[in-house]
Amino acid sequence: MKRVFAVVMALVLSLGILAGCGGAKAPTTPAAPAAPAEKVIKIGVIAPMTGDVKTFGESTKNGFDLAIQQAGLKAGDYKVVAVYGDDKNDPTEGVNVATKMINQDKVQAIVGSVSSKVSIPISEVANANKIPMITGTSTNTKVTVDEKGVVKPYIFRACFIDPFQGLVAAKFVTENLKLKTAAIMYDKGNDYTVGLAEQFKLNFEKAGGKVVAMESYGKDDADFNAVLTNIAAKKPEMLYLPDYYNKVNLIAKQALAKGLKVPMMGGDGWDSGDLDFVTLDGMYFTNHYSEKDTRPEVQNFVKTYGEKYKDKDGKPAVPDALAALAFDATNILLQGVKVANSNDGTKIKDAIKALNGFPSVSGKVSFDASNNPVKAAAILQVKKDKTYGFVTTVNP
Ligand code: PHE
Repeated sequence: MKRVFAVVMALVLSLGILAGCGGAKAPTTPAAPAAPAEKVIKIGVIAPMTGDVKTFGESTKNGFDLAIQQAGLKAGDYKVVAVYGDDKNDPTEGVNVATKMINQDKVQAIVGSVSSKVSIPISEVANANKIPMITGTSTNTKVTVDEKGVVKPYIFRACFIDPFQGLVAAKFVTENLKLKTAAIMYDKGNDYTVGLAEQFKLNFEKAGGKVVAMESYGKDDADFNAVLTNIAAKKPEMLYLPDYYNKVNLIAKQALAKGLKVPMMGGDGWDSGDLDFVTLDGMYFTNHYSEKDTRPEVQNFVKTYGEKYKDKDGKPAVPDALAALAFDATNILLQGVKVANSNDGTKIKDAIKALNGFPSVSGKVSFDASNNPVKAAAILQVKKDKTYGFVTTVNP
């Protein structure tokens, strides 16, 4: 019976095709009921998958993938379709990727990017196109607020901002380490390191400290001898290094070789398995979360992440803050789509903005007037065995 049906159907189809070719009328068959259009939310993920900070991109993709997998590739009734893009940690590349994703791939939302210097220009493109964008990790204030101080309504982040991170570091240095003088080194072409350097200085001086040297360098510099000579002459009690791990590795090594054997501190940019743990043994940085936090959100995440991803030795991988925040950013977006019950950018951004105490790995999420979640910061201490000591958590 089945076979007969198949043959008849094949005949009907071929007749139809032939009839179509010949211009004659196709035999009338009852029209099949139109299949309901599948509801889809297409999400672009933008991260530095290659280039100078590629561990940031790898962790971000892992966090995103784990979140959509745990959600069963669904946000409410909407099927999640992901499009991945590599910005190579370069602002121009980032804008190209975002523009292509929006215009050609027709993504309806964006998760990313990682570095503030890339997320800032991408946010302009997304906001102008009414595409909700949420970065897990870009901490510079200019990501969600433009030069004139106007909030970009479609842009959100899952992390705290640098004024808070700078404040926490400055307080820790003055109150806990009890140090009174500091030198700061920063990359003058990178919004993140500029912003953090300024915020640390501001808060350190407010707390009674003195910044004896504030020196900048360029993105491609690798020899910091001249700068470090100037700094060493001022005899600072500590060095504040608000850059990404690859630069911090170079600077710290050269500073120690110069005899600048002082405590060093940095920001979230230190968080990488490729940090030089031996050189930076005992140093501190502010970060978004500690995998040692006992909250169930953290422990469930650490467990499922380790089941899905393995480290170089085949052991369960320990998620860094980049992975945790990409996971959080993705879940915030999925929740927005679910609550809005829509893939319309305007409805999604309204739903995200209205979230109130949404549970996430890095803390409960409610957005302030500038689309920033109010979050605590953790202070971690680098250990040469490639682990971190959890020093303390500081609330806003
Ligand atoms: N906060 C950094 C920036 O805005 C990015 C970053 C976040 C890097 C977390 C590492 C860990 O550029």
